[in-house]
Amino acid sequence: MVPLESDALQCLDTLRMLNDVMIFGCGGHAKVVADAVALSRHWKVVSFCESAPVLNVFLGQPVYALQEVLDLNSKTKICIAVGENSVRQTIAGQLDASVEYPVIQHPNSIVSGSLEVGAGSVILANAAINASVKIGRHVIVNTGAILEHDCIVHDYATLAPGSIVCGGCTLGEGVFLGAGAIVQQGISIGAWSVVAAGSVVTRDVPSNTMVAGAPAEFKRMNPKERHVY
Ligand SMILES: CC(C)(COP(=O)(O)OP(=O)(O)OC[C@H]1O[C@@H](n2cnc3c(N)ncnc32)[C@H](O)[C@@H]1OP(=O)(O)O)[C@@H](O)C(=O)NCCC(=O)NCCS
Repeated sequence: MVPLESDALQCLDTLRMLNDVMIFGCGGHAKVVADAVALSRHWKVVSFCESAPVLNVFLGQPVYALQEVLDLNSKTKICIAVGENSVRQTIAGQLDASVEYPVIQHPNSIVSGSLEVGAGSVILANAAINASVKIGRHVIVNTGAILEHDCIVHDYATLAPGSIVCGGCTLGEGVFLGAGAIVQQGISIGAWSVVAAGSVVTRDVPSNTMVAGAPAEFKRMNPKERHVY
């Protein structure tokens, strides 16, 4: 096959039907999501927004205040790119009536054709999701995370980079799995619980509980989400 010349590639770029997306957030996670959007071949970042912006421009695009977006009252497509699970939930509650949420999938992720995924979720570089997995809304499957077959992940959960969830597990709403954590097969983790980085979860975890270590042990109730910097 003859390689395409650069002007022919530019022509192909123009022909691609890229859809505009606004990213909520101007932090580290927003940068990573913006990269995934840029590579996705379906979406193009045209702007950012925040509740109270401190920047006018981020990654070369304008930053709007959330209220300005709400006032537009149009079907803007927004990806909420904030790492903190409870903050994504709050923002989605404020926006839900007026916007649509695309699913962002990095082209270097590997995803089973049987995946069911809710609006607003992001699947980042080198993540792998195997057969018969169900993912809710506004979930983050971060860089290199692995979700094995038959897992259920509820809304607003996060799998931090390199975490592994073995087959048949359930992660409740807002669960945070720290980087490199492993959840053994068939385990359920209750809503808004936190698993510390590098932990190995060998038993079910109740809701609103922080566990840490290998095997993971109870550390405290009502954990604060201090995984975001
Ligand atoms: C779970 C986490 C949020 C807890 O943070 P915290 O509330 O500040 O917790 P503390 O540092 O007060 O630690 C509480 C206890 O848990 C233990 N602990 C915390 N993190 C641990 C870990 N990764 N492995 C083992 N034990 C851990 C502490 O030693 C302490 O134990 P002790 O009470 O017996 O002394 C944090 O440790 C963590 O793992 N964050 C995830 C980071 C990450 O994955 N970032 C990726 C973002 S994309």
